[in-house]
Amino acid sequence: MLEAGRFDEAHALLSRARVLSPSTPLIHYRLGLLFNDIGRTAEALEALDTSLSLQPDNARAHNNRGSALQLLGRASEAEQAFQRALDLDPDLELPYINLGHLLEEQGKVRQATNLYERAIARGLDPTLFSHYLAAVSGKITHRAPDRWVSATFDNFAPTFDARLRSLGYNAPRKLAAIVRSHMDERLDVLDLGCGTGQCGLSLAQQKRYLVGVDLSEKMLGQARALGIYDELHLAELHTWMRGAAAARFDLVIAADVFIYIGLLGDLFQETVRNLRPGGWFAFSTEECGSADYMLRRTGRYAQSETYIRRLSELAFTVVVADPTIIRLESGKPLMGRLYLLQKQ
Ligand SMILES: C[S@@+](CC[C@H](N)C(=O)[O-])C[C@H]1O[C@@H](n2cnc3c(N)ncnc32)[C@H](O)[C@@H]1O
Repeated sequence: MLEAGRFDEAHALLSRARVLSPSTPLIHYRLGLLFNDIGRTAEALEALDTSLSLQPDNARAHNNRGSALQLLGRASEAEQAFQRALDLDPDLELPYINLGHLLEEQGKVRQATNLYERAIARGLDPTLFSHYLAAVSGKITHRAPDRWVSATFDNFAPTFDARLRSLGYNAPRKLAAIVRSHMDERLDVLDLGCGTGQCGLSLAQQKRYLVGVDLSEKMLGQARALGIYDELHLAELHTWMRGAAAARFDLVIAADVFIYIGLLGDLFQETVRNLRPGGWFAFSTEECGSADYMLRRTGRYAQSETYIRRLSELAFTVVVADPTIIRLESGKPLMGRLYLLQKQ
């Protein structure tokens, strides 16, 4: 139930299990995961503390305890908890990632770099950790590795909608409003990086046929549960588009996806091929100033308006290029841009 995101049922079953067997650490551990997933962080911490009092050497429990402490703003205790997890099991990926992020947030870039290098030296997934390493060291790569995207979003899926709502994220709604203000007919839509299906929801009244593509199985599971997508594909979006029939769609939409793809030339070309003549391309970007694109410390890419306009010369007219607040980041507005292009 927990894995499937059926939190109410998971809660009822785990609570019953706790009554029947209060000294089983795994029950408290799973309750801790559940509370973390549904944002009841103080209860998550309590459950994980109980689990650890019964089984002090559970590295995963220390790691999740660290996440709860971090969410509660107790950074130095969180750091100790992640470190404890690593001491107990140096082959576990997540504590490296969590501790790395925490160190970066605190501006401890050197320590974060050392940690990612340690993970790679240990033989842990080099694609995953090289992306973190590139981001923290200011190196510019072309796009986030597939494995990094799927691991990040599989992990994120249960809480994605709630977390993004709390950060004021509503790019799908804003893009859908822009689309509506330029066309009122029914559309065949390709939703790139559809995630939990927020673009599909926002375009539900306007779609004739809706296809979603995403690398994360768990994000797709949430989109599937909405029951509005006609097709959902677990695939890398360039690969999927290359294999798709030409001129199949009236609209290609990508909300908050180019933050994982810096270099957009191939994607623009494939979009041109996938769109019908006069078709539309709607997307959001995080914005950078001078370079074409950059990889930010957060592991996300930002593109400049100049770059997007240059790519558009390939075959598009830029109809909308509106600045917007994408969401909050560390309590501050994060600037981006919403685009609507039309295929010439
Ligand atoms: C920040 S989420 C946005 C989801 C959705 N578009 C929305 O606005 O709510 C980014 C999504 O893009 C997917 N993604 C990123 N890079 C991808 C790629 N190369 N191929 C397929 N999906 C990708 C991720 O798995 C994730 O679900």
